[in-house]
Amino acid sequence: MLLAACGGSSSAAPAPPSFPCDIAAALSEHCGGCHGMEPALGVPFSFATLDDTRMETTLTRSGKAEPIWQAMREVLEDSKMPLDPKTGTVAALAEDNPDRQLILAWLRAGAPAAKDGAGCDLDGGT
Ligand code: HEC
Repeated sequence: MLLAACGGSSSAAPAPPSFPCDIAAALSEHCGGCHGMEPALGVPFSFATLDDTRMETTLTRSGKAEPIWQAMREVLEDSKMPLDPKTGTVAALAEDNPDRQLILAWLRAGAPAAKDGAGCDLDGGT
């Protein structure tokens, strides 16, 4: 369960939940070419919007259905993604890569939406 923060803004229409913009930028750079709005050939799902990451997949360590954001955490921890777009082989980010650390910290926090709807989706394909 995610608890929404109790903000003071009461009258503004709620924006749809989206990624924090720094996360969207890092995901666009490292994953978006394949897992963007239109998943590339052979790619099982896209995660171009935060909603997408709430869909379930069985492509998990356990083989049990879990939200896509959990599978994203696993492939980063296990250095199984990203792939090299030219060769299709694993081109894992180094453990000290700042984007890897940024994305993993966000996933380990439960992949929370950007605050106050001030978020972003992945680039491309929109
Ligand atoms: C060059 C294309 C490409 C890039 C870039 C890429 N993926 Fe993938 N991804 C794939 C393909 C193809 C599959 C399915 C086949 C496989 O697992 O190798 C996949 C599968 C997955 C799966 C399902 C688990 C699994 O092992 O099949 C997850 C989760 C995932 N990718 C997350 C990511 C994340 C997170 C990034 C960025 C850090 C990323 N991918 C970057 C092509 C890509």
